[in-house]
Amino acid sequence: MTEERVAPATRIDAEIIVPGDKSMSHRALLLGAQAKGRTYIGNASPAADVVATAACLRACGAWVRDFPPGRYALDGAGVGVSLRSPESVLDCANSGTTMRLLAGVLAGTDSEATLDGDGSLRRRPMARVVDPLRAMGADVDASPGGTPPLRVRGHRGLTGISWRSPVASAQVKSAILLAGLSATSPTTVVEPLPTRDHTERMLRMCGVDVVSDGVEVTVKPGDPQPFGFRVPGDISSAAFFLALAASRPGWRIRCPGVGTNPGRTGILSVLEMMGAEMLVAEHEPAGGVEPVGDVEVHGASLRGVIISGGLTVRCVDELPVIAVLATQADGDTEIRDAGELRSKEVDRIAMLETGLRALGASCESTADSLVVHGPSRLHAARLDAAGDHRLAMAWAIGAALVAAGGGESVIAGAEAAAVSYPGFFADLATVMAPRDSA
Ligand code: S3P
Repeated sequence: MTEERVAPATRIDAEIIVPGDKSMSHRALLLGAQAKGRTYIGNASPAADVVATAACLRACGAWVRDFPPGRYALDGAGVGVSLRSPESVLDCANSGTTMRLLAGVLAGTDSEATLDGDGSLRRRPMARVVDPLRAMGADVDASPGGTPPLRVRGHRGLTGISWRSPVASAQVKSAILLAGLSATSPTTVVEPLPTRDHTERMLRMCGVDVVSDGVEVTVKPGDPQPFGFRVPGDISSAAFFLALAASRPGWRIRCPGVGTNPGRTGILSVLEMMGAEMLVAEHEPAGGVEPVGDVEVHGASLRGVIISGGLTVRCVDELPVIAVLATQADGDTEIRDAGELRSKEVDRIAMLETGLRALGASCESTADSLVVHGPSRLHAARLDAAGDHRLAMAWAIGAALVAAGGGESVIAGAEAAAVSYPGFFADLATVMAPRDSA
């Protein structure tokens, strides 16, 4: 286990280019591996999760070449026929996205596979994808508790369904839509709240007929066309630096070229609601479908906010760092409708409570909420990432927000950051390095 030590930040005035978006990189690989012809991906995420997706695709016979950093070339033969049964268990490592989306893809092929992962993934709920894929006619099983390993015996020509998902989950929606590509009739997913729509946008980019109407999306069966796609920077990775800079008046950060899909920009909305100043300069959309912008945040004296409903979904991955930042805001920050946080890589609500208190903050939780009472003067602490990448990085920001002179904090298990952002601690050091004011 690796420990990282992080001292309080003195001033932030920086520009940082974050790596490519993890969610879009998974989807680009999964679509490129099935599209008939050569696909090129640039600026793909170096995340361990994305490496797991590429490895699983290769294990299923896909032609995937990588040219680090971030470039891939793929060749597919069409939906339903590009992947075959792997010779051994597919290792999805820590990646829920790999397991759920790949289960959807494999359900629509004449193949049989077992998908497994690490101890954390083995505790995550899978009935949410097993049920709809079975309803489409695939033979899919999880362990008795509805957890991995997943066994998928798929076949071409599944039946299109109309599925009302009980959870707002882009992974569930995407698994069903990807299975629907090789079905014999259209497939519809209805969500309780809108989630990130990368799958829909990227399918459209590939010429597939996808119609979205609020919380309802319908895909018609069809082959994705090969494509060239430069993945935008990952706003979920930028979020750690944006939150840090937002915390104090006079601090500033600029993150060029990050994805600004409205399903992902909840962090920008929250920082603005808290009082930070936000500037977003739009670029040409990636692949003609994914919004991109240069995001600049200027810090301020922050106020507590209420995050609920659709906004909670739009910043689901950023809630740990938002909770950390809330310790610096005046008044309570209430994160509501966040029960899904208990089903992430760890129970993030429970782990946030423990770590925030160790830093000297005051907070309390219910089954689906977390309230942080700000402001608190944080002190250095020993913080546990507990194998969770977003906690590892949120704790680093907590350490940086410790009051001046408060000493270094230790983040135990900091290597978990590599699950989404392998260079995070080096980039944080760059962002925190003192700069000449000349
Ligand atoms: C993701 C969807 C979200 C998110 C995860 C990535 C995706 O998960 O938390 O980090 O790429 O579709 P859920 O679908 O479980 O909400």
